Amino acid sequence: MLESSGRLSSQPDSHKRVTPSCRQLQATVRVLSLRHRDLERETVTDNFYITTPIYYVNDKPHLGHAYTTIAADVVTRWHRLNGRPAYFLTGTDEHGQKVYEAAAKRGISPQAHVDELCEPFKALWVALGIQNDDFIRTTEDRHTQVVQDVLQRLFDEGDIYTADYEGWYSTSAERFWTEKDLVDGKCPDTGTKVEWIKEKNYFFRMSKYADQLRAYIDDNPGFLRPASRKNEVLGYLKKDVGDLCISRPKSRLPWGIPFPMDPEYVTYVWFDALLNYISAIGYHPDGSAPDFERWWPASYHLVGKDILTTHSVYWSTMLFAMGLQPAQCLYAHGWWTIEGQKMSKSIGNVVDPHLLIDCYGADAVRYFLMREILFGADGDFSHMGFMTRYNADLANDLGNLAHRSLSMTTKWLDAKVPALDENTPADDALQALADEAVSAFSEHIEAMQISSALEALWRLVQAGNKYIDDMEPWALNREGQTRRLAGVMRRCLEICRVAAVLLSPVAPTKSTELACKLGMLDLDVAGVGALSRLKEGSSVDAGEPLFPRMVELPERIQAALEGALPAKAKAAADQAEAKKKKQEAPVEAQAEENPTIQFEDFMKVQLKVGEIIEADKHPNADRLLALKVEVGEERPRSIVAGIAAKYTPEALIGKKIVIVANLKPRKLRGVLSEGMLLAASGDELEGLVTVDPGVNFGCTVG
Ligand code: MSP
Repeated sequence: MLESSGRLSSQPDSHKRVTPSCRQLQATVRVLSLRHRDLERETVTDNFYITTPIYYVNDKPHLGHAYTTIAADVVTRWHRLNGRPAYFLTGTDEHGQKVYEAAAKRGISPQAHVDELCEPFKALWVALGIQNDDFIRTTEDRHTQVVQDVLQRLFDEGDIYTADYEGWYSTSAERFWTEKDLVDGKCPDTGTKVEWIKEKNYFFRMSKYADQLRAYIDDNPGFLRPASRKNEVLGYLKKDVGDLCISRPKSRLPWGIPFPMDPEYVTYVWFDALLNYISAIGYHPDGSAPDFERWWPASYHLVGKDILTTHSVYWSTMLFAMGLQPAQCLYAHGWWTIEGQKMSKSIGNVVDPHLLIDCYGADAVRYFLMREILFGADGDFSHMGFMTRYNADLANDLGNLAHRSLSMTTKWLDAKVPALDENTPADDALQALADEAVSAFSEHIEAMQISSALEALWRLVQAGNKYIDDMEPWALNREGQTRRLAGVMRRCLEICRVAAVLLSPVAPTKSTELACKLGMLDLDVAGVGALSRLKEGSSVDAGEPLFPRMVELPERIQAALEGALPAKAKAAADQAEAKKKKQEAPVEAQAEENPTIQFEDFMKVQLKVGEIIEADKHPNADRLLALKVEVGEERPRSIVAGIAAKYTPEALIGKKIVIVANLKPRKLRGVLSEGMLLAASGDELEGLVTVDPGVNFGCTVG
């Protein structure tokens, strides 16, 4: 399978089917983008280095972890597609109190525990098609050695010192708090009890670098993003920034990196973990590997908003002490809630990304998470919302454009990329839109605004569907205007090509599949917007739809939502439902005579805009007409309708109407009917439900 990284992937994807002809085409696919390892000859100097947080191994990976990692993967793929050397680091954070306690509970060694629990992270990244260059674990020698050498160096230089310390210690947050930090006498982070501890510890002279950090933030407006995070950090820095306690006595916590100058102590987990960003690429205080010079300072550290302070204040001051520059941008994204509630193990609503991958495919999961919310803002995940966006954007907009373009080309133009004709003003406008979409896409994705980039691409996809409706290729075919038909279909296929290329960092497998269907030999981003890049005469292949429409929530998800919810989550959901019912009570009372259906029931009915292209009298019934209705599928639908009393066949041609598209086909007086027209009627038929002529056939109504 072609991937934008330039390798053929053999990753299984249970969700998608590759048609046999597509499989043949894959063999010829050539890729232009390069992986960093192939870039020995590179001349570009603006190397791109991106990191995710390293994830605590005491949790199974969830949607929040997937979110950051996908975002990092998408922009990395984008840079590679553009020939820019890129390096993408992720990994796991394996020390600390919680890991130690979890291992003790299981009766195994902490090392055995973390060896086991880092695997689900690696497995999820494979399932999501993540192409990280490295996966660092903080228990690896290459990391612990660097941490110890940095500790020694900073100690020798006086930036680490010992002192007696007294304070409130929270075991769950693994840190000390001052009296004024406490909330109701408890840990402000975790709400758990704190204990007064007095002990000797090692401290990092963070206060010494606070002014340098303030100045750095002022001088580098792009450092903290989104912009609102800057005020948050500056607010924190207004307080007296103290020094950071970076040791834990082994007697209290034996699991951590031992202090080189004092074996009775281990390193505070954050001081240890933050160093992963440079230990992985070969930093060493006595002289770094060439890779370090190549990638540092990082282009982006992506983090969740909850770990902004540790990254902006602890990490930046640590880097200053080491004589290094901070990353160019620290991007703190928002948090996902789940069906309106905080995602939490105790509520039992943690979303397992594998469930979504199994039901919809990895590309749909990647697309949804990237499209649904702006990077930086909070957002809510709901299964219904997922399915609705999947159907609207992927199955309808993109899926329809591809299927209509490919199947009409197959049917009328011998399944070959046809020749262009001269541009009409409408074609010029389409080209202008494509140029605009490409430049907006690239501008947004470079700025980490993946959702806006996709929105820009979708304006083009929707314009492609409208172009088909406006140009009426079925009419051109009927009238024998073959040259124009070819030109129109060619432009539609070209828009599909633009979509395949631009979407490839977000949905790599489906983009490749689309590229294969279009007979493309590569995913070439250079000049991608020109609607003339396909090779005339190459074979196209409609095959199966890219994103099959979902009529109802997949069974496994329904089960997760209904029956399989743990008691607490069910109680919370029931409570929310009861509250909603109370608010809706008067409305429900009115509706008693008019029984209501659930939204989910309505969603089962698939309504589509169709255009009547043929109409004849029914051979066996005066009351009925036999119609051919174009709904943007491989062939027009045959629909039998009881409307002969109101309409002559001629009067119906060209009318845009609404059909129920997912009714089981049946024969009506010997003629097949594959749908039902919507009509207004009382005792007798009043008229058909029609839609604005500007609306595309094939559009979903709902
Ligand atoms: N180990 C530290 C990071 C050290 S980086 C040097 C850590 N790990 S974590 O596993 O608890 O969290 C990792 C990331 O997941 C954080 O960026 C956090 O914001 C993110 N998320 C956890 N829950 C989330 C959501 N509900 N939504 C989005 N992201 C969330 O912190």
